[in-house]
Amino acid sequence: MAQNDGILNLNRAICVAAGEAEKADQQPLALSKDEALMYGIYLNDYVKSLSQIQPSLIPRPTFDSYISSLKAKSRPPPTEPLVHIKITHTAINHVDLLYAHGVHQNNKSGLFVPPFTLGLEFGGIVLNVMQPSTTPSQKCHVKPGDKVWGGSIGTHAEELILPASAVHLLPSPKWSLHEMAALGAGTIPVSYGALTTIAGLKAGETILVHAAAGGLGVYAVQIARALGARVIGTVGSVHKVSVVEGLLRDPNTGEIPRGEGVVNYSKDGWEKEILAICNQVAKDGVDVVYDTVGLVTKSIRCTTFNGRIVVAGFAARTGTGAEKVDELEKVAVNRILLKQIKVLGYRFGETSRRLPQETIKMWKGLNEMLAREERVIKPVVYATYKGLDNVNEAMEALSQRKVYGKAVIEVCDEHEALREVQQRTDQSQKGGLARL
Ligand SMILES: NC(=O)c1ccc[n+]([C@@H]2O[C@H](COP(=O)([O-])OP(=O)(O)OC[C@H]3O[C@@H](n4cnc5c(N)ncnc54)[C@H](OP(=O)(O)O)[C@@H]3O)[C@@H](O)[C@H]2O)c1
Repeated sequence: MAQNDGILNLNRAICVAAGEAEKADQQPLALSKDEALMYGIYLNDYVKSLSQIQPSLIPRPTFDSYISSLKAKSRPPPTEPLVHIKITHTAINHVDLLYAHGVHQNNKSGLFVPPFTLGLEFGGIVLNVMQPSTTPSQKCHVKPGDKVWGGSIGTHAEELILPASAVHLLPSPKWSLHEMAALGAGTIPVSYGALTTIAGLKAGETILVHAAAGGLGVYAVQIARALGARVIGTVGSVHKVSVVEGLLRDPNTGEIPRGEGVVNYSKDGWEKEILAICNQVAKDGVDVVYDTVGLVTKSIRCTTFNGRIVVAGFAARTGTGAEKVDELEKVAVNRILLKQIKVLGYRFGETSRRLPQETIKMWKGLNEMLAREERVIKPVVYATYKGLDNVNEAMEALSQRKVYGKAVIEVCDEHEALREVQQRTDQSQKGGLARL
């Protein structure tokens, strides 16, 4: 969608929000925003169609409103500093599709029910940091003007307030906010945690990464390589074969090393192709499987004795999230016994909630990998969409399996945002009118 069309859409959203729907179809209006309002993808209810996903004017978050909202939801007061962030980029996550339609387990458990602002990952700039009176005085690792990234619900918006532990400094100045959004703080840590903490993937082992061109997949491929493992990826289309082959080719020779490769799992019998690739290096199967699709039974056929299968998602079951879902895969347990397979579940969000120390360790390892002098992880961007009014188009592309890597939303220009934050910070330091 052209950017001008986006402005028209945004104007329509303003008019509708202001109860002036008849103006919405007229020529573009000048954008004027109340200081207390911002744009966000706010869902009053689950959607039936992705076209219902439109930005609207919603209250700009303040520290007071954040604390009041905790009280309103009967949640405990903050136990750590709060960080107010100006979002420059967000990315589309498969889970956005599920949340929008209300079919994620967190919707069913009542953790996230409408109304809420959609979006799970962001890159942005710190506007301000606040020490709530309920917390002991403690130093915060970020300050106004810092570039940060993180994962939390509510990122498809212009601003967000988060507890400090959910906000991460960029691993090195070499990374841009656009790139960090493309890694996705709700994406790359999932694959890092699955491969390191859960699978215990070691150098010299072979991992089978299903949906290797998907959001989790493209980073699992690169993380596994950085850990010294061999990778075999599966994908569902010819185009995605070349995306993953591009990640596996030796930059000097252009060749894919023996014992690695990409297999199209839309053709029956793909398991034999996986075994043939393993045989190139005298292996009788893969050591680890990273399954985000729902392919455990067929994966067992590809696994060596004593192999590990990490179950992290069911993309094939959920599709767009709107359609009728199929039954979950049922696995004959004798197959697990015969090969002495370990089937390991992984739920990133729940691990963060229940095992915060494990999550801190995971982030440390990931940030060290991302900060390496020679970049071992490269962002994979399907497309960058300008403006929150294109979130629905990007989600549509994801639901149709067109997206490889990540679809990124540029909420605002990174350099302009930095200048604006700097100005607001200067004004507030001079006791001026800044809202900080
Ligand atoms: N365990 C956790 O903590 C955790 C965290 C985040 C996400 N997840 C889950 O992991 C799964 C993958 O997430 P992701 O972010 O990688 O998603 P994604 O970027 O949408 O990639 C999913 C891939 O799955 C493949 N796929 C196969 N059948 C599909 C279908 N019917 N509909 C859509 N895609 C299909 C597609 O690749 P091909 O076209 O190549 O087949 C697609 O690229 C999702 O189920 C998500 O909910 C789990």
